[in-house]
Amino acid sequence: MSEQQIVLASRPEGRPTRDTFRYETIELDALKADQVLVETLYISVDPYMRGRMNDARSYSQPFDLDAPIQGGVVARVVESTSDLLTVGDTVVGMLDWATKSVVDAKQVRKIDATLAPVSTALGVLGMTGMTAYFGLLDIGNPQSGETVVVSAAAGAVGSIVGQIAKIKGARVVGIAGSAEKIQYLKEELGFDEVINYKTEQIGEALDRTCPDGIDVYFENVGGAIGDAVLDRLNPFARIPVCGAISGYNEQADLGPRVQSKLIIARARMQGFLVGDYGKRFKEAAEQLGKWVSNGELKYEETIFEGFEQVPDAFLGLFDGSNTGKLLVKL
Ligand SMILES: NC(=O)c1ccc[n+]([C@@H]2O[C@H](COP(=O)([O-])OP(=O)(O)OC[C@H]3O[C@@H](n4cnc5c(N)ncnc54)[C@H](OP(=O)(O)O)[C@@H]3O)[C@@H](O)[C@H]2O)c1
Repeated sequence: MSEQQIVLASRPEGRPTRDTFRYETIELDALKADQVLVETLYISVDPYMRGRMNDARSYSQPFDLDAPIQGGVVARVVESTSDLLTVGDTVVGMLDWATKSVVDAKQVRKIDATLAPVSTALGVLGMTGMTAYFGLLDIGNPQSGETVVVSAAAGAVGSIVGQIAKIKGARVVGIAGSAEKIQYLKEELGFDEVINYKTEQIGEALDRTCPDGIDVYFENVGGAIGDAVLDRLNPFARIPVCGAISGYNEQADLGPRVQSKLIIARARMQGFLVGDYGKRFKEAAEQLGKWVSNGELKYEETIFEGFEQVPDAFLGLFDGSNTGKLLVKL
């Protein structure tokens, strides 16, 4: 059977479309020494990939035009010339968006499929869980009784952030974009308050839900939501800046200047990248695994089925079509 890959067909201006992507049939090379042939099981679609579609300086290299898009993938080994991996092993790595790939065995990491569903290696026990863990605990440092606000609260990172903040004894206010998400966050995850930013006036809603001000704001979206939060910070508030998805498809996203707001609150706003915490991934994986297995940390996945769904799944991130981690299952 012929295999397929998805390449970047054009650099999007503004919001990507299906024409941003092109499917190609591929011939796979024979395995060299220390390589594996892997069959893709799950593909992770992530907001940061939008940035890599631009030809602009950033923290990661732009995707090349007409070359395969790469992202987080969970796959099964179907052939191996490596001592590290055997046929049947499940692995995770940064791989091409393809139905099968030939890769160096060192390019992937074996996962223990008996511990948790393998898809969690791309979500709560993978990059998104780590992002929530380090951004919230290292930079946000929430204390018992403090008010923590998180945007994109029903998404992959946000839903974990809110729950870890609850574990630490904070009062948690989520911001999300649909009635179903509000219900999920309140009833399933135990958030104290949730704001629907699409139907409520964000400033008024923050005043109502955060009567004692905001001590930690976990920033996932930027834009008008971030602006409204900055006006309501308590002294010495902390703002881990994880993402700013509301601006990823914008040419220019102008907002108020933040310096005075940070001075007034003596607040600390810090961008971070999960990759900077590589040396501590083991610590996070162990803690997240414990919380998941004892039921303190719940996770949700929105799964699109089939390789032909990958572009639509990616575009769905910008429509809020996901609750929890957005994945494509092949
Ligand atoms: N710094 C790092 O190392 C790092 C690592 C991973 C992720 N991130 C960032 O973290 C954020 C969340 O990533 P994720 O993977 O967990 O994605 P996600 O939250 O699962 O999915 C994106 C969500 O963003 C919301 N959204 C989309 N457009 C929006 C807009 N214009 N205004 C407000 N909300 C909007 C949607 O939910 P609604 O229905 O609520 O609108 C959507 O479900 C992203 O900004 C991402 O870039 C950073």
